[in-house]
Amino acid sequence: MSVSAEEQAFEPLIIVFGCNWCSYAGGDLAGTSRMSYPPNVRVIRVPCSSRVSPNFVLRAFQRGADGVLVAGCHPGDCHYVTGNYYARRRLSALRRFLEFIGIEPERFEVHWISGSEGAKFAKVMGEVTEKIRALGPNRKMRDVR
Ligand code: FES
Repeated sequence: MSVSAEEQAFEPLIIVFGCNWCSYAGGDLAGTSRMSYPPNVRVIRVPCSSRVSPNFVLRAFQRGADGVLVAGCHPGDCHYVTGNYYARRRLSALRRFLEFIGIEPERFEVHWISGSEGAKFAKVMGEVTEKIRALGPNRKMRDVR
């Protein structure tokens, strides 16, 4: 099977919604510790993982994201006490919905990364980027790129 030039040059765009109190701080720590992670990742800071509406995720896919990741505090550590429990429940329903509408569920992930886990942040970003690169471009929902 031949691979098209577009697929050969494919660099995935990964949108990360990172909670301000843990995961965004973990990303900052990765940066200040000079750990590298792929430039394919764009981090959007949100106050809490529970702030991520399913509409944000769907819109990211529509606007050209190849993968979307929500990163928040570990269960039990949410700055707003129960926010990530709501997020966990809501986002697992979203994952099933994405599958229902034809998007590979592997394109959407949720991770719990604390502010002291810069190495984990960098590792997860690397793994997710490789996984999405192997999946190829998101063509199902894209309306603009
Ligand atoms: Fe981080 Fe709620 S503040 S998940």
